[in-house]
Amino acid sequence: MTDHILTERAGANGAINVIRFNRPEKKNAITRAMYTSMARALIAGENDDSVRIHVMLGTQGAFTSGNDMQDFMAVAMGGSMGTEVLDFLAALALARKPIISGVDGLAVGVGATINLHCDLTFATPESRFHTPFVDLALVPEAGSSLLAPAAMGHQKAFALLAAGIPFSGDEAERAGLIYKTVSSNELEATVMAAAENLAEKPPKALAIARRLVKPDPELVMARMREEAELFGNQLKSAEALAAFQNFMARKK
Ligand code: COA
Repeated sequence: MTDHILTERAGANGAINVIRFNRPEKKNAITRAMYTSMARALIAGENDDSVRIHVMLGTQGAFTSGNDMQDFMAVAMGGSMGTEVLDFLAALALARKPIISGVDGLAVGVGATINLHCDLTFATPESRFHTPFVDLALVPEAGSSLLAPAAMGHQKAFALLAAGIPFSGDEAERAGLIYKTVSSNELEATVMAAAENLAEKPPKALAIARRLVKPDPELVMARMREEAELFGNQLKSAEALAAFQNFMARKK
């Protein structure tokens, strides 16, 4: 476990399973231990009958800056990828209970693509959804190559995932990547109010309605595995190593 992920049960009868990125000094970059904690928290919430809704939050100014670059670099230099990322993504894609996210600021890489699995994302207008996969010699992940075109249409999905063009919160709302923008000082209250509202609905009907409006989770899992293989190959490429070294050296 790591204290870089905070979890708590909130709302009436602890119906809301809150999972929060808490590594602000690194803009909430996600380490392997953090993926493991998040997967465990999601699965614990799925298995707890008192939990109705999952909520994912970051800290002020950062939802998350994505996968930890040191961890990427370690794989690029010959280390193993491990199963932590895929275990988390599987827990996210296979969750049956609704997931609400609140984004205040940076949502980079998987920090952007997580939201494609969420049912309602609230974000501040100034937030920055950015997936610089290709600039890092990587490819889209987390099922985003399937989910983003479905949510946003081809051109906006291409702009986000292939061209690496950042989207502000306002642009993300217009594109259909997120539900709504709200000001920073209202963000968490809005997320929690939405969660409480959903938590009061008949859970079985809500779960069925959710399943009906979402892409088939098995298709998402299959695409995720395909992406993961391509991503893993690229991660070990010389061009990716150069991009990671560039990031590490940028302040020197
Ligand atoms: N992995 C590891 N460390 C990260 C990180 C990441 N993904 N994102 C930020 N950090 C660290 C920085 O190295 C820095 O650490 P330091 O203070 O020890 O030098 C600290 O977090 C603050 O980041 P900084 O770059 O100074 O903040 P910024 O506001 O100028 O820029 C970002 C923020 C997110 C735009 C920039 O850090 C960035 O591009 N990070 C990489 C994001 C990325 O490519 N993720 C993977 C996508 S697939």
